[in-house]
Amino acid sequence: MKGIVLAGGLGTRLRPVTKVASKQLLPVYDKPLVYYPLSTLMLANIRDILLITAPNQLERFKDLLGDGREFGIKLSYRIQDNPSGIAESLILAEDFLNGSKSALILGDNLFHGSGLGRKLETFTNVNGAQIFGYHVQDPSPYGVATINEKNNVVALNEKPKNSDSKIAIPGLYFFDETASNRASRLEPSDRGELEILDLLKSYLEDVELNLEMLPRGTAWFDSGTFDDLHEAGTYVKLMQERTGERVGDPLEIAKFRGWVS
Ligand code: DAU
Repeated sequence: MKGIVLAGGLGTRLRPVTKVASKQLLPVYDKPLVYYPLSTLMLANIRDILLITAPNQLERFKDLLGDGREFGIKLSYRIQDNPSGIAESLILAEDFLNGSKSALILGDNLFHGSGLGRKLETFTNVNGAQIFGYHVQDPSPYGVATINEKNNVVALNEKPKNSDSKIAIPGLYFFDETASNRASRLEPSDRGELEILDLLKSYLEDVELNLEMLPRGTAWFDSGTFDDLHEAGTYVKLMQERTGERVGDPLEIAKFRGWVS
C-alpha cells in the first residue's frame, strides 16, 4: 500500500498567515502540522508516500522533509495547480500509485490514540474503500455518514446544515486499486470541486464502502481554523507533558519501527 498526504489548498480560513505560509507547515505546538498526518501513515506501516501541495509551497515542503530518508521513508512530491477538490489527489497520484492500493490522509488532520497504528495497519490490504466514523456534537463542518443498525452506510452528506446523524467522516481513507479510475470519472460539484464524498458514493453504490467507528478515546482534530489549531496544539502539549511521550513525531516512529537507527 502507498500513502498520499494532501497538503495543498489556499487555507483561506487562516488568512493572513496563509498568504505567506502553507497551512500544513504552521506549528501545532512543537511540530509543523504536516508531521501529524505523516506520522499516522507511518504508524500504519506505510513507507512509500506522495505529498501533494500547491505550486508555491513545494520547495518549503522539500526543505522540511526532503526525500524522507531522515524518517526511513520514501517521499515523492506532486503539485496540485488549483484546489479543485480532495478527490483530484487520486488522479494526480495515478502514476505514483501504479496500480497499488492507497491510504489518503488530509494534511490538516491529526489523529492520536492508543493502538491506532495497529488498528490502521489492518486496513492496508483493503477491499473496496474503508472510512472511519467519529461521533461529534456538531457535524455541520464535516462530511457526515448516516448508518443503519448494522453499521452499514446508507447516506453521505458534505457539510449538512441539519443532520440527524452526528457521525463525521475524518480525513483518512483507505482505497483499493480502483480509486484513481473512479476519481477520473467524477464530475465537479456545484462548488467546482471533485468531491471526496462523490468518490465514496461510487464505492457505496457498488456496496464496497465500509465504515468503522474510531475507538472511543481516539483524538481527532481537523485544523482548518485558528481555534482548531489552538485546540490541537493544547492537546499535544498536555499529552506530551503528562505522559512524557511524543505525539506525532515521525522520527520517534521511525526509530520505534526500526527504520532508522
Ligand atoms: O477533515 C475532514 C473533512 O475534510 C471531511 O469530513 C470532509 O468530508 C472533507 O470534505 C474535508 O472537509 P474540509 O472542509 O476540512 O476540507 P478542506 O477544503 O478544508 O480541505 C481539507 C484539506 O485538504 C486542507 O488541508 C486543504 C487540502 N486540500 C483541499 C482541497 C479541496 C487540497 O490540498 N486540495 C484541494 O483541492
